Parts: sequence; C-alpha cells; structure tokens
Amino acid sequence: MSNDVANTLSILVLHGPNLNLLGRREPGIYGAVTLDEINHLLVQEGEKLQTKILVVQSNHEGLLVDAIHDAVGQHHGILINAGAYTHTSVALRDAIAAVALPTVEVHLSNIYQREAFRHHSFIAPVAIGQISGFGEQSYRLGLQALVHYLRKSSTG
Ligand code: DQA
Repeated sequence: MSNDVANTLSILVLHGPNLNLLGRREPGIYGAVTLDEINHLLVQEGEKLQTKILVVQSNHEGLLVDAIHDAVGQHHGILINAGAYTHTSVALRDAIAAVALPTVEVHLSNIYQREAFRHHSFIAPVAIGQISGFGEQSYRLGLQALVHYLRKSSTG
C-alpha cells in the first residue's frame, strides 16, 4: 500500500469477543449502545476524516489474528477493542507486532477502575496508544488519534 496517506486512509476496526452483544450485555458497565451503532458512528467519523473503515467482529482469537495479518497492504492502521483477549492474548500482541501497522487500543469501560485481571493489557506495549473509559466515544477518540498519527507521520 502506498505511503501517500495525504488523502483517503483506510482503517481496520477490530472488535473482539462478546462485543457483538453490546446493548444487551452488562448495560450498567457497557451502556445501551449496540455494536451496529458504534460502527455507524465510526463510518460517519471516517467520512469527516476522509478515512475508509472496514469492521470485523469475531469471538475467535485465530480469526482476529488472521484479520490482522490480512490488513497488510489493505489498511494503514488498526483500531482494536480486543475485549477479554486484551488481557490474555499473546497471539494478538504478536500479530500486531508482526504486521507493524500503527494500532490504537480502545475500551468502552475504564479497565483500570475494574477487576485487577483487567489492569494488564498485552496489546498496550505494541499499540501507539490506548483510550479507555469513554463508552462509544472511546472509539471515536481512538479513530481521531490514529488518523492524526498517520497523517502526521506521512508528512514527517
Ligand atoms: C472491554 C473491557 C474488557 O475487560 C472486557 O473483557 C470486554 C470489553 C471494554 O471495551 O471495556 O469485553 O474491552
């Protein structure tokens, strides 16, 4: 893929396990917003930012690894909410390190206010940054940060 990212960018948005249940899943923690609504918000934000969005949700670790591999040559960066795999998956961490695409990690909830097992992220050390705790706005803010990073690095 061309390094010329002055105009249209393409971002892969990855949603991990159980995020397909948003809206019904623990609404006291994750709110009433559905995954479709989050994806719609991202496409709208993408239009403002001249950025194409491709969304993949999977409950299967290997499928997420494959999607990260397949992003090479197709997308300029990755926005990921790895769900519970955030806290368990060396494989996702290694895939992100292997493809070396700029990646932003997002979470709806503030993982540092929650159970201790959620305080560690395997993704964070290979991400350019993390946004946690702003509900669906975490995704919007994460997309803005990723696009800003990509445009800045393309112009030096
Ligand atoms: C989450 C936080 C994770 O700890 C949890 O396993 C999720 C959702 C979030 O968006 O707040 O599935 O990634």
